[in-house]
Amino acid sequence: MEARNSQSAYDVIVVGSGAAGLTAALALAEKLKVLVLAKGELTGGSTAWAQGGIAAVLDAGDTFENHIRDTMVAGAGLNRQETVEFVIERAPHAIGRLVQLGVPFNEEGNALHLTREGGHSHRRIVHVDDATGWAVQSALLKAADANPNITMISGRAAIDLITGKHEKRYSGSGRVWGVYALDQKNGKVEAYTARATVLATGGAGRCYLFSTAPRGATGDGIAMAWRAGARVSNMEMMQFHPTCLYNLEVKNFLITEAVRGEGGHLKLPPGVQGAGERFMPRFDERGELAPRDIVARAIDHEIKRLGLDYVHLDISHKPPEFVRAHFPMIHEKLSGLGIDMTREPIPVVPAQHYTCGGVIVDLDGRTDLPGLYAAGECTESGLHGANRLASNSLLECFVFGEAAASDILANWDDFEAPPAVRNWDSSRVTDSDEEVVIKQNWTEIRRFMWNYVGIVRTTKRLERAQHRIMLLEEEIAEYYRHFRVSTDLIELRNLVQTAKLIVRSALKRHESRGLHYTLDYPETLLQPEDTVLVP
Ligand code: FAD
Ligand code: SIN
Repeated sequence: MEARNSQSAYDVIVVGSGAAGLTAALALAEKLKVLVLAKGELTGGSTAWAQGGIAAVLDAGDTFENHIRDTMVAGAGLNRQETVEFVIERAPHAIGRLVQLGVPFNEEGNALHLTREGGHSHRRIVHVDDATGWAVQSALLKAADANPNITMISGRAAIDLITGKHEKRYSGSGRVWGVYALDQKNGKVEAYTARATVLATGGAGRCYLFSTAPRGATGDGIAMAWRAGARVSNMEMMQFHPTCLYNLEVKNFLITEAVRGEGGHLKLPPGVQGAGERFMPRFDERGELAPRDIVARAIDHEIKRLGLDYVHLDISHKPPEFVRAHFPMIHEKLSGLGIDMTREPIPVVPAQHYTCGGVIVDLDGRTDLPGLYAAGECTESGLHGANRLASNSLLECFVFGEAAASDILANWDDFEAPPAVRNWDSSRVTDSDEEVVIKQNWTEIRRFMWNYVGIVRTTKRLERAQHRIMLLEEEIAEYYRHFRVSTDLIELRNLVQTAKLIVRSALKRHESRGLHYTLDYPETLLQPEDTVLVP
């Protein structure tokens, strides 16, 4: 290996410190110096918030074929079978590595306890109570922190990828050399260069008014890769989780699907005809355990039909000690809000939850751009198709984090040292005089995306959204050209970019499939259309 470029103290830059980013970093660090950058706190991504668990075939009565079939059924014919097999066959190994890292998965007898979620034909979800993500995030951070080849820097918001057009000796090539990132404390922008870059920036849930995703899920990686010239696909496949807590103060608290997996029922609330009725069997023979798109649509239908604010999720028919033992974190949170889930139902509504589309990657985590890899929720790997099967997401992060690292290590000698690149130019910008513009546009995007690009769509609504996006895009671009970047501005620019990709993909699909349901094209075509977008 040659000496490193003087501008760059690291071999590889990983953007994101969630499950995908840290898995990649730990594998790369066996041989290389890795820099991990994270916007906000190192625990700020969705990983720390995951509840239900991780899907893997670990039971003697289960098979890879079953898990593959369940994934493809949920994905409604849009998955790439090769990817589905690739991920599912590697799942037991991924769980083994997490056990080695010290993740304290729940056990039953001599085996790991397996819970169940919608769309799964077998019990196959390993979990740490109902707070799996926090346990996984903590174990990965502990391992990364102890590794001398890994440097983690929080409070750095990547703005754009560095490519050939930023080289001092302009080459204009699409080769990626790292990122420009904002120091969120002092407002300075620095260039971080390396031979390879891995995007692991998570999803774009915050495009929607109601989302279970954390504040920073603004599609940054998808937008950065798109601006640099990478293709994205399946952006119309936004997953809405059926059961987010309905509460006027706490807007984005998830009630895990495992509550239904362990016997919870969805019922109509009091005050309407049929109050107390379990309505899911009217919509699907799998009842509460149908895939998420079906359950979320059914709830949305009942809410609109009956003019409800929410429906009820009820597990109070199970023994109180069973409920407390399986869902200690949720039980405690709800108790604090005055809801005793062992004795009464929980008010729930659907909310945006997961971004199935993203930057297109192959089985090695390679994007279209040389030097740029991606893993996790910011990608479209072919695993989820038109609807992600519950608990397949963390799994994808582990498998593709590792795959990207393996490919970089295997081809390391072909990775050139980064050239000298231009510093960030802030000579033509001033401090913003109207921060209110950012706040206003943030809210506006999230509101019209919720109203026009939600669970049930029409071409007219999508066109309305598209029209507003065009107006806002221009205004935001103008603002970006004139004012110093801030985290909010970076995110707003990415939100509008990602919203545009979602709407463009949705308008491109002339059928209803999986998560994309439109009243103008209610049928599912025999041959799925593709919604690959090319910059
Ligand atoms: P994340 O964990 O979201 O991490 C993204 C990282 O990128 C963060 O470190 C963030 O700071 C960083 N970042 C973002 N933008 C920038 C930028 N511009 N510059 C620098 N850094 C940046 N999936 C399951 O499989 N099982 C579950 O039980 C489950 N439960 C869930 C519960 C909730 C409430 C939510 C929201 C999701 C759940 N999911 C679950 C989905 C799963 O948690 C996520 O898909 C997965 O954790 C994504 O991991 P990731 O590494 O791709 O991204
Ligand atoms: C949940 O616990 O319901 C979320 C699981 C997932 O998103 O896969």
